[in-house]
Amino acid sequence: MNKHRNRRRELLTTMVAAGLTPWQRLLAQTKLLPATPSDTEGPFYPVEIPRDSDNDLLRVEGSDEASPGQLAYVHGTVVDRHGTPIDGARIEIWQCDQGGVYHHPGDSGDPDLRFQGFGAMVTSRTGGYHFRTLRPVPYTGRTPHIHYRVSAPGFERLTTQLYVAEEADRNARDGLYQRHSREERSLLTSAFKAADGGAVAAEFNIVLG
Ligand SMILES: [Fe+2]
Repeated sequence: MNKHRNRRRELLTTMVAAGLTPWQRLLAQTKLLPATPSDTEGPFYPVEIPRDSDNDLLRVEGSDEASPGQLAYVHGTVVDRHGTPIDGARIEIWQCDQGGVYHHPGDSGDPDLRFQGFGAMVTSRTGGYHFRTLRPVPYTGRTPHIHYRVSAPGFERLTTQLYVAEEADRNARDGLYQRHSREERSLLTSAFKAADGGAVAAEFNIVLG
């Protein structure tokens, strides 16, 4: 085996030992990463954090019925601007149900109680997070999006929104989305790719500044 291959194997061993994926390693080698842009919180952050607020928004306490809508797996990694994974970051997401209604007293309409509406989890040592939720749908005046709030000790809290790459037409008509620069939009937009069983999966990596 030649010297380069040995070196590559050493590097890979170090990466695995450090719990870093190749993606994280690549990021760590660059200068400072751009922080994930913030976006408006909107009026529908929960008044009170619901008791059932785990990272599976489709499994709701007290309901055996499946929520209508398309299953979406949303996942990613939370890192700092050096690309170092952030252990113990709290990620919260909230979004409207399939009928376009938020689980919030300020929204009109009856929320679908087969959908949790809000979920949270804390990142692992590798900075990873994942949610099982619905592929977001549009509602009056807004393109599909998922609201995020991310907090970690030593970092400013980030409030933002994740947008759907496949919704180019609606995104182009969304005032909040268009308020971002092209670069910011690219950082806040993920492809929701087809996955097993009719689901979709999206990766949204978050950089805290
Ligand atoms: Fe919203």
